Amino acid sequence: MEQFNIAIDGPASAGKSTIAKQVAKELGLTYLDTGAMYRALTYMALVHKLNLEDETALLNLLADTEISFPSNQGMQHVFINKMEVTEVIRSKEVTQNVSLVSSHKNVRKKMVSRQQKIAQQGGIVMDGRDIGTVVLPNAALKIYLVASAEERALRRYRESIEKGMQVSLEELTADMIARDNYDMNREASPLKKAEDAIEIDSTNLSINQVVEMILDYAKNYQKKVK
Ligand code: CDP
Ligand code: CDP
Repeated sequence: MEQFNIAIDGPASAGKSTIAKQVAKELGLTYLDTGAMYRALTYMALVHKLNLEDETALLNLLADTEISFPSNQGMQHVFINKMEVTEVIRSKEVTQNVSLVSSHKNVRKKMVSRQQKIAQQGGIVMDGRDIGTVVLPNAALKIYLVASAEERALRRYRESIEKGMQVSLEELTADMIARDNYDMNREASPLKKAEDAIEIDSTNLSINQVVEMILDYAKNYQKKVK
């Protein structure tokens, strides 16, 4: 049978990575957080004080930046070369600059090619912004996960408070909406629903409810192709 791949796209804090991770675990597939790859490059670019408008400088940096995800008891760890960056790539500074770095067409080309190479190794659940449209256009199942902006901002707020971070809900909401707008309106593979994607609005759904829905879609697909 052809490889079973699942693409999950959607705006910030819709629950993509939480849900993708669980779905991958249930189905015995690999999970790949493509946002972490763009965040890792952004982190390195900030460390090196690069001009984030300079695509050539970003490409040179990316060529020297090996991004890996060594798995550790189901926890996703992110490494750049030999350095762990799991937490630092979630900082406010990285979050505020990652959309600019991700808007460069040739940076995206290189990232997409790395992501497709990882997908070649076996069935995968990938989450991001262009997975159903560009990275895995033949995925067996494409999900476009959304939730209201208020609910998404609240989710991110609660998560930040739990981690002991000092954040303002207003600032977080404004930053999140600005990032979504940037991601949806960039020229190079903007965030949009693939024509054949199933849209799930998770505003009033729990994590488990969304996971169960996706597992049902996956089961139905597998029945059909048998
Ligand atoms: O988890 P959160 O929704 O905050 O974002 P993320 O998935 O970590 O992605 C961070 C940023 O990377 C997004 O806002 C996009 O600018 C970019 N991104 C992208 O352009 N394409 C992807 N496939 C994944 C992320
Ligand atoms: O990957 P993405 O940015 O789309 O979202 P996430 O990081 O998976 O989820 C953001 C937060 O929302 C996490 O704290 C999840 O536990 C929470 N969440 C939720 O409360 N209800 C859902 N249905 C989905 C996610």
